Formats: sequence, structure tokens, C-alpha cells
Amino acid sequence: MEALAPETIHLSPDEPIVIRLLDSTDAPKLTGYFKGLSAETRSYFAPHSFVEETVRHICKTLNPAEIVRLVATSADNQTIVAYVLLLSGATPSDAARFQTLGIPIHAETDFSIAPSIADVYQSRGLGSHLMKKALTIARAMNKQRIILWGGVQTRNVRAHRYYQKYGFVEVGQFENEVLNYDMYLTL
Ligand SMILES: CC(C)(COP(=O)(O)OP(=O)(O)OC[C@H]1O[C@@H](n2cnc3c(N)ncnc32)[C@H](O)[C@@H]1OP(=O)(O)O)[C@@H](O)C(=O)NCCC(=O)NCCS
Repeated sequence: MEALAPETIHLSPDEPIVIRLLDSTDAPKLTGYFKGLSAETRSYFAPHSFVEETVRHICKTLNPAEIVRLVATSADNQTIVAYVLLLSGATPSDAARFQTLGIPIHAETDFSIAPSIADVYQSRGLGSHLMKKALTIARAMNKQRIILWGGVQTRNVRAHRYYQKYGFVEVGQFENEVLNYDMYLTL
């Protein structure tokens, strides 16, 4: 599928970045990526455990029909600088919350998105490139809606603005240790 093909973007004329699918050889790089995230970024982004064993298992059992895993890497492919998940459908707890909001989630037509960018690359446009790639993939896979995987924390002003910029709307709030918005985008 063309939408899943690697793409090179430029954050500045002399800084090419490759956006591509996570591949089976990426486990050490992905573990390194997560270890390099600040505590603050990690507090916003926790779709799964990043212990080495889990990451190795993920890289050995990749299945884009279930979860599209995008990474952005330096041009020499040495370093992962962003990791974005697109889950077909939703986690059971997200699906249950959306159900109570009157929005039933279907794996065929819904994606759940969880984006993350390495701290030094945040607020430099990479998230926008990744959102555009995610939207292209979602349309190519016939999705009609994207919801936020685990919502967005209300204190995460940057991410909240980011989603609003791309047309996501708030549809509810929920509390775990912190207050979160549920948001979704209709494609
Ligand atoms: C949220 C995140 C994915 C956004 O990606 P990014 O590369 O930083 O965003 P971009 O530079 O492409 O900016 C896109 C939009 O996001 C918003 N944004 C980005 N940085 C911002 C900042 N410092 N303050 C407020 N809004 C900001 C703006 O709306 C911006 O659009 P604009 O440049 O036209 O104003 C990224 O910052 C990130 O990974 N943060 C930590 C992890 C996280 O919060 N993940 C989301 C969990 S729900």
C-alpha cells in the first residue's frame, strides 16, 4: 500500500528525516528512543510497556492490519526520533468510554492514535508531518474516524492544541490519576 511507503521530509533544508513503518530490526533503537524521553514526555505517552523484552516481542510480531507503528528516524537510520501508533479500533477501556458517549467503535472504520516525539524534536513541525502521514494512511485503510488512544491529559496544552489544529473535537472528559479529554476526528 502506497500510503505505508517510507517518506523523507525536511525539518530544515539540511535535516532530512525518514518516516517509515517500524521494522523487525528496530528493537534496540526503539528501546533507546524510550529511554531518552524525559519523564514529562513519558507521563503523556504510555500506550505500552517499553521494557526490552516487550519491545523485542513487538518488533518480532508486527502486524499493520492490527496496529500501524510509524517511526521517524535520522537520515542515517541510526536514531528513532518519533514513534506513532495507529490501532485499528480501540483499547477495551477506550471503546467502553466511547460506547457510553453513544459512539460505538469499530475496528474496520476507527483508528486510535498515540503520537510521541523525542523531546529535542518537539514543536519543530515533526508532529504535523506525522499527523499528515497518519491521515493519509487512515484514508487509504478506509477509516472514517480517529480517536485519541487513552485521551489527552487536560494539562498537556501542547498536545491538546495539536489535536485541535487537525480538527479533533472534544467529546467527553474522564479521570484516572489526572483529568483527560476524549477527542475524535471525523475523516
Ligand atoms: C504532541 C506532539 C505529538 C506534537 O508534535 P510536535 O512536533 O511537537 O508539534 P508541531 O511542531 O508539529 O506543531 C503542531 C501544532 O501543535 C501545537 N503545538 C506544538 N508545540 C506547541 C507548544 N510548544 N505550545 C502550544 N502548542 C504547540 C500547535 O497547535 C502547532 O501548530 P502551529 O505550529 O501552527 O501553532 C509532541 O509535542 C509530543 O510528542 N509531545 C509529548 C508526547 C505527547 O504529549 N503525546 C500526546 C499524548 S496524548
